Amino acid sequence: MAYETILVETRGNVGLITLNRPEALNALNNQLLDELIEAVGTFDADPAIGCIVLTGSEKAFAAGADIKEMQPKSYMDVFKEDLFTKADRIAETRTPLIAAVSGYALGGGCELAMMCDFILAGDNAKFGQPEINLGVMPGIGGTQRLTRLVGKSKAMEMCLTGRMMNAEEAERAGLVSRIVPKGELLEEAMKAASAIADKSLPIAMMTKETVNRAYETTLSEGVRFERRVFHSMFATHDQKEGMTAFTEKREPKFKDE
Ligand code: HXC
Repeated sequence: MAYETILVETRGNVGLITLNRPEALNALNNQLLDELIEAVGTFDADPAIGCIVLTGSEKAFAAGADIKEMQPKSYMDVFKEDLFTKADRIAETRTPLIAAVSGYALGGGCELAMMCDFILAGDNAKFGQPEINLGVMPGIGGTQRLTRLVGKSKAMEMCLTGRMMNAEEAERAGLVSRIVPKGELLEEAMKAASAIADKSLPIAMMTKETVNRAYETTLSEGVRFERRVFHSMFATHDQKEGMTAFTEKREPKFKDE
């Protein structure tokens, strides 16, 4: 597929997707969402790709869903097309997915970043759910994911006032894993992605799935799920190789098996 709103490249065993609608600060219109879902799905299905990085421009990761595209829609339009439900596909990605956020991550942009496994923020990053200023509320998971990530008080304040938070506040609140100078954001994200991609991909996928259970279930069920998946790892080549390499004081050679 020839993409018009995103740039897609492979760097070693890492897939890099750059949102590229500079004229609209990477606002997520229907075409961009379709292309993004296609590109993420293609990398996800590729066994040679061990991690995916999603980024935007220095000024904007994404300034939200495309307001101009949404503005004329009726209730029946959005109900019938099931607006934004397809974006859930991003959160269902099995391959680890990192959001590298520089500049604005607002509305659907913040929601997209939160669908990734973790967010690395440039020191100029700004996060917000300003939908209330448009007479709506977050509609791509923001009311749920932001609340789980930063807690009720801050999520409620963000969603009700629409104010933005800067990178320091986002890090303090647990929304981002860490902050890096904006000029080093992509390099740091690629470094983290390469480190992940060099591990065993099935083990990384199982780890991701298990951490995500924490958001879907009770503590005792989550721990039970962890134990079952942990035990199953002993049926893999890569567990044998990883532990043997440690005892032999050498680097492991994972086979993704
Ligand atoms: C469509 C957008 C856009 C958006 C920016 N643009 N954000 N177009 N949808 N979400 C366009 C502008 O119209 C403008 O195009 C160009 O991008 C540059 O933006 P400016 O506003 O001129 O830039 P600046 O003054 O630097 O301000 C940056 C900004 C501002 C603070 C990020 O653009 C802004 O507030 N954007 C909207 C943020 C927002 O409300 N996001 C939530 C969307 S709703 P032109 O052609 O005029 O130059 C959402 C809902 C999800 O995500 C699901 C629930 C329904």
